[in-house]
Amino acid sequence: MEKRWRVLVTINIPEIGVEILKKYCQVEVNPKEMKLSKEEIMDRLHDKQALCCGIEDIIDGKVMDSGPDLKVITNYAVGYDNIDIEAATERGILVTNTPEVLTEAVAEMAWCLLLCVARRAVEADSFVRAGRFKGSGPRFFLGTGIGSKTLGIIGAGRIGTAVVKESIGFDLEILYYDPVKNEKLEKMGAKKVELDYLLRHSDFVSLHVPLTGETTHLIGERELDLMKKTAYLINTSRGRVINEAALVEALEKKQIAGAALDVYENEPRITRELLGMRNVVLTPHIGSATRETRGKMSIMVAEDCIAALKGERPPRLLNPKALA
Ligand code: GLV
Repeated sequence: MEKRWRVLVTINIPEIGVEILKKYCQVEVNPKEMKLSKEEIMDRLHDKQALCCGIEDIIDGKVMDSGPDLKVITNYAVGYDNIDIEAATERGILVTNTPEVLTEAVAEMAWCLLLCVARRAVEADSFVRAGRFKGSGPRFFLGTGIGSKTLGIIGAGRIGTAVVKESIGFDLEILYYDPVKNEKLEKMGAKKVELDYLLRHSDFVSLHVPLTGETTHLIGERELDLMKKTAYLINTSRGRVINEAALVEALEKKQIAGAALDVYENEPRITRELLGMRNVVLTPHIGSATRETRGKMSIMVAEDCIAALKGERPPRLLNPKALA
């Protein structure tokens, strides 16, 4: 079969997706480990009908215009704040993402961070590796217990709901803040509350909102000030949901007990002060990084890409208006 479509894949997605794409398309995969610059993406798009990109690629109208034949952009992520959807719709370019397959993986990561920061696991690991473990004692690496505490979920969508589902066994009181009542969560005993109430009463606050104008800096100086001095903040959503400078200040002033972050305001740059803090756990945006999930995401972007190129409606279409 003649492969008439050309697709640019800007990130090193698992081979399974590339193989699917190769059945129908000529595939150009970014050969570098590093992300392509905006100019490099624009240079490569001139003869492509499809773009498969990642969250570090900022795809605006200018980038789209560098691909006059561009029909579809498949984002290898559930969040799509890196793509100007309106600009794509105006140009009739379809945009898709990878929802659902990463819900559990990200929820597990939130739990991983929560447990690590509360029980000081990363700090303790460094201690052992440094050869400093010469015997234990009653006050050795005291952490915070999790059972029977209060967990506050900000954003009760798929991932926030999965975090609550995975909490069974910890006997937690669950509060959630979301504009919409979540019946599943209510059935699990969770209580919908206002943001300030959640911040004042939670021992662990976990963020699960998409990045929008409204959620940018949702957590700043005022909100951190409302939190308990013994509370921990967990973020697996988007870095810009937290005002990172305000967080650093709150941690320095011991307004909260600690934070565990997978995402950063100016990713991949991280505010230097965070690196020196022992009550902070930092991971490099790996919420969906399980072999199982990443494989499924790779298949999804390939299938959506091919459906769009064939003139069909891709299953994960974000901007149906673009079809018109
Ligand atoms: C990762 O951050 C995603 O949005 O999938």
